[in-house]
Amino acid sequence: MKGQGEGIVENKHTEVNLTRDRLRELASLLRSALWLDMLTEAEVEGQVWGDPDFDPELQLGVEVDGGLVGALGGVVRQDRGTGTSVGYVKFVAVSPTYQRQGVGTSLLKRFEALLAARGVDTVRVSGSAPCYLWPGVDVCYTGAYCFFLKNGYTRYADAVNLRVDLATAPLDTEDDERFLASQGIVVRRMEPDDAEAVGNWIARAFGDNWRWETMASLRRSPPAVFIAIQPSAAAEERVVGFAAYAGNRRNWFGPMGTDPRVRKLGIGRTLLRLCLRDLREQGYLEAQISWAGPVPFYARTVNARMDRVFYLMHRSLKDGNT
Ligand SMILES: CC(C)(COP(=O)(O)OP(=O)(O)OC[C@H]1O[C@@H](n2cnc3c(N)ncnc32)[C@H](O)[C@@H]1OP(=O)(O)O)[C@@H](O)C(=O)NCCC(=O)NCCS
Repeated sequence: MKGQGEGIVENKHTEVNLTRDRLRELASLLRSALWLDMLTEAEVEGQVWGDPDFDPELQLGVEVDGGLVGALGGVVRQDRGTGTSVGYVKFVAVSPTYQRQGVGTSLLKRFEALLAARGVDTVRVSGSAPCYLWPGVDVCYTGAYCFFLKNGYTRYADAVNLRVDLATAPLDTEDDERFLASQGIVVRRMEPDDAEAVGNWIARAFGDNWRWETMASLRRSPPAVFIAIQPSAAAEERVVGFAAYAGNRRNWFGPMGTDPRVRKLGIGRTLLRLCLRDLREQGYLEAQISWAGPVPFYARTVNARMDRVFYLMHRSLKDGNT
């Protein structure tokens, strides 16, 4: 009789594709399953329909009685290092009342089968930069870690976010700005007119992914990017630093970079603090420094502390076991 019962539950599930008219329902589902991340509709919209490699076939849902109970958003990107295509699970979530009934597994298997049919060999559950919600599986979502392990995924790297308490972090920039001005360096908010010069410089110095993220930040109101300029330099050497936030997540900081020729002058510290001050003025109590690289730099300059920990996981589809 057990088998019969299972069959009835399965028959109620209908596979659908996530269409934009379901944005509100999708955001609400994600909030119900992802208690650490109260995702807004704008964040979800940007992540799904704003992805540079958006593919409607890879946005999967499961319905019961017309209501969305499970969702998986995915994307395929070219890995520049190897030239191969890699599939990314950007999010997977099942409504708490429907968890542990096979909904998550059916979504994942459907996604893997679509990837295999396109000749994609690798699936990652890790930051699908430049457009990503998390660097990997947050260890606090322990059920998700167990879920991916059970489905044959292994952890290949870790990442951390840092947390900045915006009420107490030192965010004053006056002295630094005065010193930088004495060195012929101006810091200011980026404007839409800067897009070409700044974007080209970021792409040259740090790669296309950071350019994409920075342009997403530039579209926020006010533009969520600060830049450092050396007005006296030759045109292509004029931009010497940038820092951005809210490209992917509303109170997440990053990326940032300073030209190696003018490091150690306080440019990064100033740009970081200007961004965090914006967030404080917008009413946020904390900022997350996303997928943090130089932890000591952030710890020193804004009292950042290690916070969220992510496992980056992957699985090969070459065994054909999808
Ligand atoms: C991860 C998630 C999508 C799995 O969906 P699901 O429909 O419950 O998964 P399935 O029923 O297909 O598979 C269940 C298997 O996953 C693992 N699992 C799921 N939840 C678990 C939990 N709370 N504790 C331990 N293992 C868990 C187990 O291996 C389980 O198998 P079992 O029931 O035989 O022990 C769901 O738990 C969820 O929505 N979690 C919150 C969202 C999230 O963390 N997403 C990851 C960020 S991308």
